[in-house]
Amino acid sequence: MTIPDFRKRKAEGRKIVVVTAYDALFTRIAEEAGMEVLLVGDSLGVVVQGKKDTLSVTMEDMLYHTRLVAGAAQHALVIADMPFLSYQVSVEEAVRNAGRFLQAGAAAVKLEGGAAVADRVAAMTRFGIPVMGHLGMTPQSVHQYGGYKVQGKAADQAEVLLNDARALEAAGAFAVVLEAVPAKLAKTITHALAIPTIGIGAGPSCDGQVLVLYDLLGLFDQFVPKFVKPYAHLRADALQALRRYREEVEQGKFPTDSESYH
Ligand code: KIV
Repeated sequence: MTIPDFRKRKAEGRKIVVVTAYDALFTRIAEEAGMEVLLVGDSLGVVVQGKKDTLSVTMEDMLYHTRLVAGAAQHALVIADMPFLSYQVSVEEAVRNAGRFLQAGAAAVKLEGGAAVADRVAAMTRFGIPVMGHLGMTPQSVHQYGGYKVQGKAADQAEVLLNDARALEAAGAFAVVLEAVPAKLAKTITHALAIPTIGIGAGPSCDGQVLVLYDLLGLFDQFVPKFVKPYAHLRADALQALRRYREEVEQGKFPTDSESYH
């Protein structure tokens, strides 16, 4: 998967599958499962660091995890999420920070926002840094929304999102994530753009889908949005394994002869 392949996939009607990754172990597992695009999401602030939102994630945190994922990835395209305050302050800072992700091994960056960040997207693209946009319920604006709420339900909001999507495409974005927006609006935006839309809580009409790895594996249970489908229940499996290990050590059943050196 390369950046030009994104448009090609849309034109061919072939869905694009994206999953988040934060470390080398899951990068290898995701690649073995055939994943072609890995997003080092700032969702790591919540699912890895245990914070209540993504706002405290730093450039250093994101660069560290990008290096882990990009270092382990053999084939997948790695996209790094730009954390809060790494691109908002100025175009110059945004380009410099985006470039650091490419130096860390990512092939592209993602940032949140529409027309307000179009100048950043245009500058990065001009200097060879591919950018994925992110619209709808953008988690770095959680306080502005008053919580993690579906965006674009009202007609005027929907119009703004459609214009934002067009602004990102015109600025050179190679794809746009649509998060927690009504399926009908996602369909309209998808049809209006030549670049692919990647949905998360945006219905089936998007050109691709993305999920947070720990959500789809059923590892993270603190907050499970409606749009998450757990394809496994690894938290329950981990709990069971850890309980059994504790019990067996306490009862003197582990280790046995076969786990011992002679
Ligand atoms: O941070 C993240 O993981 C994301 C995806 C959910 C799109 O932005």
